[in-house]
Amino acid sequence: MRIELRYGKAKYISFIILDVLCLLLANVLASWLYLNHTETGGYTYTQYSPVVLIMVVIDILVTALLNTLCRVLRRGTQREIKEGIKHISVSFVLLAVVLFFLRAGAAYSRVTVFLAYTFYFLFFVGSHIVWKRVLQSLRKRPERKTAILMTTDRFVDEGIDQLEKLHIDVKNIWLLKNLDIKTIKDIDVVGTYEEAASVICWKMLDKVYIYGLDHHMVPGYLLKACREMRLKFNLVDFNYRIIEIKTIENKDPAMGALSFLEGKRDIPFPIRRVYWITKTEAERRRGFHAHKLNCQLLFCPYGVIDIILDDGQKRTTVTLDRPGKGLLLMPGLWREMVWKQSDSVLCVLASEYYEAKEYIRDYDEFIEYNSRYRDLADPLKESAAPETVPAESVSRETVSVS
Ligand code: TYD
Repeated sequence: MRIELRYGKAKYISFIILDVLCLLLANVLASWLYLNHTETGGYTYTQYSPVVLIMVVIDILVTALLNTLCRVLRRGTQREIKEGIKHISVSFVLLAVVLFFLRAGAAYSRVTVFLAYTFYFLFFVGSHIVWKRVLQSLRKRPERKTAILMTTDRFVDEGIDQLEKLHIDVKNIWLLKNLDIKTIKDIDVVGTYEEAASVICWKMLDKVYIYGLDHHMVPGYLLKACREMRLKFNLVDFNYRIIEIKTIENKDPAMGALSFLEGKRDIPFPIRRVYWITKTEAERRRGFHAHKLNCQLLFCPYGVIDIILDDGQKRTTVTLDRPGKGLLLMPGLWREMVWKQSDSVLCVLASEYYEAKEYIRDYDEFIEYNSRYRDLADPLKESAAPETVPAESVSRETVSVS
C-alpha cells in the first residue's frame, strides 16, 4: 500500500473513496429494500446507521491490511472478482465479530447486512472496471510520451539522452542490480521489481524502454506488469556500432600513428577488463559465443580481422582493418572472429569481469535464448510470464546513434 500511495496517490485514494461510496449505496439499497418492503418489527434506519459506519471503517481497514487494491489498474475481470470475494468475505467476518463483541448483533438486521454486502460485491467489481476505463480515458495525452527506462548504470546517461532525442519524457529509471542510487538527473530511480511494477501500473506511463541492457535481464515480473498494462517493451538500443578511434598521424610517416580511447568520452561503459589476442594464424576462427551482459569495444591495432555478428536472424561482417576503427558490441549478439592476416592483434575492452556463466557458447542455445521473446512479442498474448530472466513482449525500436 505504501508503494501504491507513493506512485499513484490520487488514483489509489480515488479507488478507496469509490469503494466507500459503493458500500454506502449498497447499504441504502439494501435497507430500502428490506426495511420498506418487509415487516421488521419496529427496526429503523437510525438503528441500522451505526452498522454502516462500522462497515465503512472495516472496509478501509481491509483495503489497507490486505492491500485489496493492489494491481487494481492492471488486473483483469477474473482477478477483480477474486479480490472482491476476498475483500467482502473478510469484511463480513470482521463485521460479525465486531457486532458480536458489541453484543449488538440481534438488534440489527442480518438480512440487510447480507443484502448490502451482496450489492457491494457487484458494485465493487463493476465500479472498479468502469473507473479503470475512466482513468485511462482521463489521461492527458501530452505531446511528449512518458516512459520508464530500464537500463544498467553504464548506459543510463546515454539512454536518457537517446529518449530525449525521441521526445520521450523519462519519468522513472529501473537500474539492473543497482539499488543504492535514488535519483539520476532528477529522475527517480526505482530499486525493486515491486516498485517498478507499481510505477508501471500507477503512473500510467506510455512506454517502457530498455537501453543498453540485454532484454533477457529484465525479470518476468516486470514483463507481466507491462503486459497487464498493455504496454510494449521497446528496445532503444543498438546491436553494434562502429566507432572512429581518434588517431594522430605523425607528419613523418616513418614515425607512425597514435590512436587513443578515453574512458567515458569514447566508451559508454566503465571498463572492467581489458584483454587482447595475439599469435593467431591466418584463417583461424575464434569466438563462437554471445554474452548476456557484457558490452565490449573491439579494435585491431595491427592486422585485419573479420568480426561476424549474428543477432539470431541475420549475419553481418565488420572488418577491423585499421587501428582507428572500433566496434562497440552489445550483449545478445553471437560473434565469430576470422583472422584474415596472421598475427593480427585483437584488443577488447569489456564492461564486465570475466564470468564463464555470462557466456552462451552453444549456438542453438543462443537461438533459443533470442527467439524466446520474438515469439512472444505481442504484449496482449496471455501466456504466463515466467518470474525470472527470459524476456518477452519486446519490440525492437532501434535508433541509430552516431
Ligand atoms: P575464449 O573466450 O574462449 O576466447 P575466444 O572466444 O576468443 O576464442 O577464452 C579462452 C580462454 O580464456 C577461456 O578458457 C576463458 C579464458 N578467459 C579468461 O580467463 N579471462 C578472460 O578475460 C577471457 C576473455 C578469457
